Amino acid sequence: MKKALGLLVGLSCLASVSVAQQKKMQHTSGEMDAFVNDLMSKMTLEEKIGQLNLVTPGGGILTGAVVSQSVEKKIMNGSVGGMFGIIGPEKIRKAQELAVNKSRLKIPMIFGSDVIHGHKTTFPIPLGLAASWNIELIEKSAQIAAKEATADGLNWVFSPMVDVARDPRWGRIAEGSGEDPYLGSLIAKAMVKGYQGDNTYSSATNLMACVKHFALYGAAEAGRDYNSVDMSRQKMYEFYLPPYKAAVEAGVGSVMSSFNEVEGVPATGNQWLLTDLLRKQWGFNGMVVSDYTSVNEMMEHGMGNLQEVSALAIKAGLDMDMVGEGYLSTLQKSLQEGKVSETDINLACRRILEAKYKLGLFSDPYKFINEKRAATEILTTQSLSFSREAATRSFVLLKNEKQVLPLKKTGTIALIGPLADSKRNMLGTWAVSGNWKTSVSVKEGLMNAVGTHAKVLYAKGANISDDSAFARRVNTFGVEIDIDKRSSKELLDEALSIAQQSDVIIVAVGEAADMSGEAASRTDINIPESQKELLKALVQTGKPVVMVLFNGRPLTLSWENEHLNAILDVWAPGHQAGNAIADVLFGDYNPSGKITVTFPKNVGQVPMYYNHKNTGRPYDDRNRFTSKYLDMPDNAPMYPFGYGLSYTTFQYGDVTIDQDTIKPGETITAKVTITNTGNYDGVETVQLYIQDVIASVAPPVKTLKGFKQISLKKGESKVVEFVISEEDLRFYNANLEHVSEAGDFNLFIGPNSRDAKRLGFTLIKQSQLNP
Ligand code: BGC
Repeated sequence: MKKALGLLVGLSCLASVSVAQQKKMQHTSGEMDAFVNDLMSKMTLEEKIGQLNLVTPGGGILTGAVVSQSVEKKIMNGSVGGMFGIIGPEKIRKAQELAVNKSRLKIPMIFGSDVIHGHKTTFPIPLGLAASWNIELIEKSAQIAAKEATADGLNWVFSPMVDVARDPRWGRIAEGSGEDPYLGSLIAKAMVKGYQGDNTYSSATNLMACVKHFALYGAAEAGRDYNSVDMSRQKMYEFYLPPYKAAVEAGVGSVMSSFNEVEGVPATGNQWLLTDLLRKQWGFNGMVVSDYTSVNEMMEHGMGNLQEVSALAIKAGLDMDMVGEGYLSTLQKSLQEGKVSETDINLACRRILEAKYKLGLFSDPYKFINEKRAATEILTTQSLSFSREAATRSFVLLKNEKQVLPLKKTGTIALIGPLADSKRNMLGTWAVSGNWKTSVSVKEGLMNAVGTHAKVLYAKGANISDDSAFARRVNTFGVEIDIDKRSSKELLDEALSIAQQSDVIIVAVGEAADMSGEAASRTDINIPESQKELLKALVQTGKPVVMVLFNGRPLTLSWENEHLNAILDVWAPGHQAGNAIADVLFGDYNPSGKITVTFPKNVGQVPMYYNHKNTGRPYDDRNRFTSKYLDMPDNAPMYPFGYGLSYTTFQYGDVTIDQDTIKPGETITAKVTITNTGNYDGVETVQLYIQDVIASVAPPVKTLKGFKQISLKKGESKVVEFVISEEDLRFYNANLEHVSEAGDFNLFIGPNSRDAKRLGFTLIKQSQLNP
């Protein structure tokens, strides 16, 4: 620490004050301004542009074609502001030493990483975590991730990913919270809080979060990654922007621009988005980083050459250039030619220096580099047990015919399927630092659970896919789809022979880890054919079949829902996968997850989402000329948003409200009694939806406005209350004002977005009272 401070010769105003004073200073913007002004007055233009450069030496997962070159030389030249893709205190210390010992002004670097669902201890993928509907649990997952990441030398995470997504063909639906802006906003806030703590960064266990991908990335046309997006502002404001805004309101330190275009201009060069909306309307004052080479990619978008697109980005309000080095190689020229101003460069540089200042890196560039912490605070017993709990809470029971689940720990169990003995696929997409070799497979988990009480027989049964070209594309980061040397028939025969000897069949199937995530769009969202053949053969045995489904997106499960006895959706559960799956299959935890994305019956129905608008011709089977498909019996999804079963049953009593009119400033209290009428203790998530019946902008059929998670013992009843105010009735009107309009509303309370009980009420505004 002392050594580090001594090195900051150029930073005299900090070097001469005590640590306590420095901490205080971190919170005083006047002092920060003075510090940054002083530092910037000493910086050359090259050094300022250098701060805008984010590099990766290629140690992490590479998601683009380019890797930064001559990194060490650039750091010493003062041409690097931050790095990502290097992890671990030793490596980060070395890199930081180069910056603070060898560069002229000794400005420390920031170190980022894609910590998406845990750092080394890996939690369920975000879509799974969201299915827990447990905001505290999600916040804690970010808190633990921050603690581990900071112990590993990092001070910046590229998370939370809050892109609202309605199209399961898009692989990155796995990385977000699903289709709902309200739930997505709560999760965005919780994650920012988990990562950043109280936003002062006074503790070395908190770091800077980066909300991404700003904006609308989840609406990529046809679900094809990186594709164009186009939508009305009203739709943006109402459905897509709220989670980013919530993250900004929670004080997120940085924002990542997205690859897609917004209203015809790529987000990375979109001034309306990055300056007018983000900074002026929402008051964001942190730094904005591009996505991986997204500045350069504006050339492919048809926005000009590298110099032009780089100028476009900085003028739009994009501070840091990830990997592409368009800023580093062209901004000086653009300044000379008058294409960018010194103010543009100064502003971007200032925001990056401010982020470093707030993180406390000028006080101590090694604040987050602590070998002792790395040895003791990563992959702890507590974080692993939390990972197991988070996984159990993320699982969604989609079907449980005749209470086939929970299973008894007796008899003979056939465990079959290409994901039954796979450690490689347990962590899911974007587990950059998680070591899959230390994850618990389903087979290990079941064995741990049954001990000598039951016999578990295992067979692979099928390949995840028999298509070698598909497998090659999926296997970019390692062999996740392992095509067996044995023929399909040999695999199947082995599976059938153990199935015949067993009382029940557990079949672990679905997607390999990287069949979802970035660059993992699919046009067919069925379980791959090879596995489907296996399922069909197992059903033929007449034994009860329980499907444990791995997936990073909604899959089409019509056949499975019809023929299998039970379906447990486990997403990609993280490190403790097998143990958590056993906890739920044997009833040590009664499943409580509910899906946060609609599962369609058929890929032709997508995009499909619960908060859709009514058309002028709502579905009517008797009338051909209504909104529907000729080849589908109705417009219903396979499983609606908010759906998930339990081993017990919950009975919803009648919904009551204390008054059926509401004025601004007043509230309505809605009450419902929920009774656990089944045979197990359980957890239920009670959901509140509201529908504006008539509005100046056509309203959605319903919108989630609240939920309560309750635990009920067998036979127990609890009254759940929701307090509704005029604010809950607001929407974005055609002028993009967030308003409520007088008139009739419906409220729905229920276990999911489909099976909810309805009650009407009326909003009365002053103008109606005194016309
Ligand atoms: C992804 C981002 C990620 C970045 C850095 C990009 O390809 O879109 O989500 O943070 O790479 O790894």
